[in-house]
Amino acid sequence: MKNIIRTIKTRTIGLIAVAVTVAFTAIACSGSGTTQSTTEVGIAPEKVVDYIHTVLLADRTAYTKHVVNRLTKLEGKEKPEGVVDAEATEGWQETGGVPLPAQMFRLGSEVALENTTEFTYGLISTWNINDSHKPQTEFEQKAMEEVNQTGEPYKDYQEIGGQTYYSAVYPDKAVAEACVTCHNTHPVHLERYPDKKFTMDDVMGGIIINLPVDQS
Ligand code: HEC
Repeated sequence: MKNIIRTIKTRTIGLIAVAVTVAFTAIACSGSGTTQSTTEVGIAPEKVVDYIHTVLLADRTAYTKHVVNRLTKLEGKEKPEGVVDAEATEGWQETGGVPLPAQMFRLGSEVALENTTEFTYGLISTWNINDSHKPQTEFEQKAMEEVNQTGEPYKDYQEIGGQTYYSAVYPDKAVAEACVTCHNTHPVHLERYPDKKFTMDDVMGGIIINLPVDQS
């Protein structure tokens, strides 16, 4: 069975590769006499931010599902019979645990910032626990407001320090009861937003991606 799946996967990848080659060839040949190299094929910024978002979300979900959840339940068995003796907690550095998914996400964004200036990403929220997640720029404030209301991504150009960015905010929703419980009872949340009680499926914040672009 596994072999069949593998064969199908290989075939699918093969087909995609053929499709991409065809697309590139078509574009390369469409220059009516002029030579057009494949490196000139641009991908629209709204597509690029979608691709980045897909990877970020996939990694965060995989970390939650395959690391954090396995600390309390291993292959369906409760923790006492599990093998990993650790806990995902906010104070993971003090307790010898592992970071919460939101912290892991932030740590990743900090590492990315050390390695590239190509683009930046992070979490933001109107009801932020961590100060660095507060919507700052005019775009961030407007985008977060829109996303809170519509539950849909918000994308636009913005300028920061003379550089133009294509920026996008994707909703981060309460997909599990744990999101709601932990945030609603967090001491910082209780102090700052005593009247804000998240319920399931609420927009709790957003994932922001900033892509520098040349507007010539
Ligand atoms: C066990 C507690 C806990 C759980 C469960 C949890 N969070 Fe958080 N969340 C936090 C903490 C603590 C932070 C601040 C992390 C940091 O310092 O960067 C945070 C940060 C965030 C932020 C960024 C804004 C802010 O508050 O700083 C968003 C958005 C967010 N969480 C959404 C979610 C969603 C959606 C879920 C469920 C899929 C979830 N959280 C589950 C504790 C939790």
